Amino acid sequence: MEKRLKIGLLGLGVVGSGVAKVIAQNSTKILSATGIKLEVAKALVRIGEDKKTIAAEHGFSLVHDIKDITDDPEIDIVVEVMGKIEPAKSFILAALNSGKHVVSANKDLIAQHGNELVATAQENGCYFYYEASVAGGIPILRTLVNSFLADEITEVFGIVNGTTNYMLTQMLENNLSYEVSLQQAQKLGFAESDPTNDVDGIDAAYKAVILTRFAFHQDLGMKDFAVTGIRGMDLADLKLAQQLGYEVKLIAQTKNSANGVYADVAPKLVPKRHPLASIYNELNGVFIKSYGIGKSMFYGPGAGSIPTATSVVNDLAVIAQRTAEKLPVAPFTDYKAQVNLQNKEDVTGRFYLALKADTKQQQTQIATIFSEINLAVELVEQKQTDDFRFVYLTQNISLEKRDEVVTALADVDVKVTQMMEILEG
Ligand code: HSE
Repeated sequence: MEKRLKIGLLGLGVVGSGVAKVIAQNSTKILSATGIKLEVAKALVRIGEDKKTIAAEHGFSLVHDIKDITDDPEIDIVVEVMGKIEPAKSFILAALNSGKHVVSANKDLIAQHGNELVATAQENGCYFYYEASVAGGIPILRTLVNSFLADEITEVFGIVNGTTNYMLTQMLENNLSYEVSLQQAQKLGFAESDPTNDVDGIDAAYKAVILTRFAFHQDLGMKDFAVTGIRGMDLADLKLAQQLGYEVKLIAQTKNSANGVYADVAPKLVPKRHPLASIYNELNGVFIKSYGIGKSMFYGPGAGSIPTATSVVNDLAVIAQRTAEKLPVAPFTDYKAQVNLQNKEDVTGRFYLALKADTKQQQTQIATIFSEINLAVELVEQKQTDDFRFVYLTQNISLEKRDEVVTALADVDVKVTQMMEILEG
């Protein structure tokens, strides 16, 4: 009889039910490639959750107590697709401490508590894989591990949040407000149950933390990222950016130079000729600059049941393959290199700066501030409705100088309604 690896699923929501389907569809292919059959044996669900139909369809049992999985000697691998920190973290630690391999899609948990989980996996001689935690269906983490071994990455940036990319696309295409586009993203299941993390850039930052570990082997944390989201984004800015030859995208970016690493998440103006500009709706794209390959981009669905589940099941297939080949258990990647952060004054960029003033006279005050700070700008829009709107593109300035401009404008009661960096290809 063929060898089997039995799986305990933690969570049977959008991704969990996708995992059951993808295993059912691909277990024969995985069996012929590895000689091992993947089989979901049990799924942990909350009491009262009605999951009998899917359990019967795929022939697994439903349990309500984690011990029914972690204490079951027949279960080889635990798949965690519950999301959030607790109880997912305790459940994963219990599984690893019971000698079970773990596959997870939980970016919040891995970005914030990855070190503890990785150490526990190593202590117990278990695999801990989490390809689906970044950019859903794009196989980016394993690509960074396997295909950049002979290369040195200098920059990783991209669109890694499907919800906000969907919103920015829909606002422009269908003339929608921020609020309506968010409701649509929630309805389609792209957004988190509480979409705060999506719209405030936190979800993208979690993914960028993980990407940075794989790209630069440095353990940057959330505290090292400057994070701005798209909350309250004005359609007028998206339209003007388009007229100027740009698409606004929420970009997660990490640059590594001789001066250290700079990491941020923010809405940025992406030139239309840049491949990231043509990534629409819930699709994600990760752009890599490296010495050897040069520029490369990895593109695909960043959210959704089957794409994310396919990444999860691929992790399972890799465990099956390595088990069949009797290879030693090894960590997904290592990220023990010294963290070396860049100083703010060494980081520069050009900015799109939208201002709101109550009176026309404030335009003179704005001009005086620019001249005192020695900032060259190009005025690209000037409009009067109830108040006055002025939009400028700045010259290349340091982040320190950018902050100085914002403070000086606030001192004369001019509101910065939007400030976005212009992405250099
Ligand atoms: N809310 C996330 C997104 C789901 O929109 O990208 C996938 O991580």
